[in-house]
Amino acid sequence: MIVEAFIPKSYTKHRSKGSVSWSSPSNIALVKYWGKKEHQIPANPSMSFTLDYCKTTTILEFEAKENTTAFSFDVFLDGAQKDDFKPKIETFFKRIELYVPFLKNYHFVIKTKNSFPHSSGIASSASGMSALALCLMSLEEQLLDATPQSENDAAQSYFYRKASFLARLGSGSACRSLEGDIIVWGDHKDITNSTDLFGVKYPFEVHENFKNYQDTILLVDKGEKQVSSTLGHDLMHNHTYASQRFRQAHDNISKLVEVFKKGDLEAFIAIVESEALTLHGMMMTSMPYFILMKPNTLAIINKIWQFREDTGLHISFTLDAGANVHVLYPKNETEKILDFIKAELVAYCQNGHYICDEIGFGAKQLPI
Ligand code: DP6
Repeated sequence: MIVEAFIPKSYTKHRSKGSVSWSSPSNIALVKYWGKKEHQIPANPSMSFTLDYCKTTTILEFEAKENTTAFSFDVFLDGAQKDDFKPKIETFFKRIELYVPFLKNYHFVIKTKNSFPHSSGIASSASGMSALALCLMSLEEQLLDATPQSENDAAQSYFYRKASFLARLGSGSACRSLEGDIIVWGDHKDITNSTDLFGVKYPFEVHENFKNYQDTILLVDKGEKQVSSTLGHDLMHNHTYASQRFRQAHDNISKLVEVFKKGDLEAFIAIVESEALTLHGMMMTSMPYFILMKPNTLAIINKIWQFREDTGLHISFTLDAGANVHVLYPKNETEKILDFIKAELVAYCQNGHYICDEIGFGAKQLPI
């Protein structure tokens, strides 16, 4: 699948050497992306909150090279060379070469660091791939003629659309990390301008209840992912419940439009928790099958439900494809809920480790 709109006509400028830098956040899906077609096209639309604290900062150093037949790059995480990151980046470069045809003209040094510990079990692919895609777009910008002031807004939105399009080809969920605070990725009848190709900002009214929503991430299991996302998405091919699940994701996004408008916290909780359990339900009912929750994941969920019943506070949870729990709650209930988390839930975390995050507003370019 070739998307003409993102193939540059020609580059008019030459840059022999330089560097660019972006920091880009992680995001947490409310309606989950699980299942994809060829070319990183999602099987269903998804919706996420962009996070604020959990992010990757990347410096991309580039230097023009003579031999332009192969990709050439080195990757560093926290100052240490990481050759095991190279295959994923090589695959990414192959997928995007058509859209950023300068890639083989340069040797790149990719220096990256995460605000969260690498071994926390928090996936860094969304923040990492989006930061790298943005760095490549900043380099592309330097190879093109300056945009006239009058066309600045259009150029700006093209920049983000294409960066999200590239990020998607690195890791699907990465295309939801560039902007905030709520992003939709995937064609959906009710969401204006939504597309399978890149993430778009949620275009409708959002009630005050959902501004600055909090996400406290409980690190239940910091180990390597038991199921890689590639394998996980593959499990949805020929899955008995796949088509019903994809329909459900569409319905849940339609429902969330009303929920966000009205500020209906109870309905939000029901949709988001059901999405998390459905994601895990899909994994339990695929072939081969997996249970990615741990006993402590279930203990936390039960505690959350009990506390919600006892207090009437709007605490809820969501899960990624792993054992960690994202505890979601409105900003104005922070004090009581955080006290509860510290007193009752942190004991279930590996080494008592948790991260306080909240809704954020997307990636930032950093001065070099
Ligand atoms: C469970 O974006 O990691 O977090 O496209 O193969 O890189 P790839 O998959 P990835 O899948 C994320 C799945 C999820 C749900 C979500 O974020 O929507």
